[in-house]
Amino acid sequence: MSVQDEIRRLTAADIQARKGGEPIVCLTSYHAHTARIVDQHCDIILVGDSLGMVMHGLETTVPVTLDMMILQGHAVMRGSKRALVTVDMPFGSYEASKEQAFMSAARVLKETGCGAIKMEGGVRVAETVRFLVERGVPVMGHIGLTPQSINTIGSFRAQGRDESDWARIEDDARAVAEAGAFSIVIEAVAEPLARKISGAVKVPTIGIGASVACDGQVLVLEDMLGLSPRVPKFVKRYTTLGPSIGEAVAAYAAEVRARAFPAAEHVYPMKAKKP
Ligand code: KIV
Repeated sequence: MSVQDEIRRLTAADIQARKGGEPIVCLTSYHAHTARIVDQHCDIILVGDSLGMVMHGLETTVPVTLDMMILQGHAVMRGSKRALVTVDMPFGSYEASKEQAFMSAARVLKETGCGAIKMEGGVRVAETVRFLVERGVPVMGHIGLTPQSINTIGSFRAQGRDESDWARIEDDARAVAEAGAFSIVIEAVAEPLARKISGAVKVPTIGIGASVACDGQVLVLEDMLGLSPRVPKFVKRYTTLGPSIGEAVAAYAAEVRARAFPAAEHVYPMKAKKP
């Protein structure tokens, strides 16, 4: 057996068992090269539908299609070998019926080889979550700010900052957990509420703009690397790749214009002639 064969990917069950334990580390990735790096440090790689905004420059995640998710999910699977790869179900691929959701989820699992899918919504998708889980689809929930609902909620603002909203958001978390989700993303929710939900539900919570008390954390990779021009308040930039890439591109452009690139070491000399 090769060393490769001995490396086992984390599963949804492994993640679920981490409730209250060692924090779960999650980042997004949409391509093979970044997946290879992220895989070395993270428990979950999320192929988020944020790829529509990050990779394609869309204003929202609404136009993202199932085919886009499958293409990038496949790339991330090829680039990784240890983390649980979880692929987002895009807007329009699961809301019409439980059956539509199952057909979409089955395509994602079969065509990418990933280990789980993620679905936005609380009480309104709980029945669908149960339907999928009973049929062998591991589901990660996503409550609080749900960006696919931008056209009805109107803005990407934090949720639960007014106590009168708490019961609704707590109901969402409970409904998804009881329906069988193996974990729940809590996005942009007032810290005390995110903390309370994390203590109340029996499955791991993964925070993004939520609370350090969550069982794990997720960020969009390009945001934390400093590549995204605008980021929400909850993003910590761990480096500033944007300016570094700008400097590298400027140096390349200057060398091309000065005929300093390619240099002798970057071109192929002729083979030595045989005597
Ligand atoms: O699409 C995405 O990247 C996400 C994370 C922000 C949780 O859903």
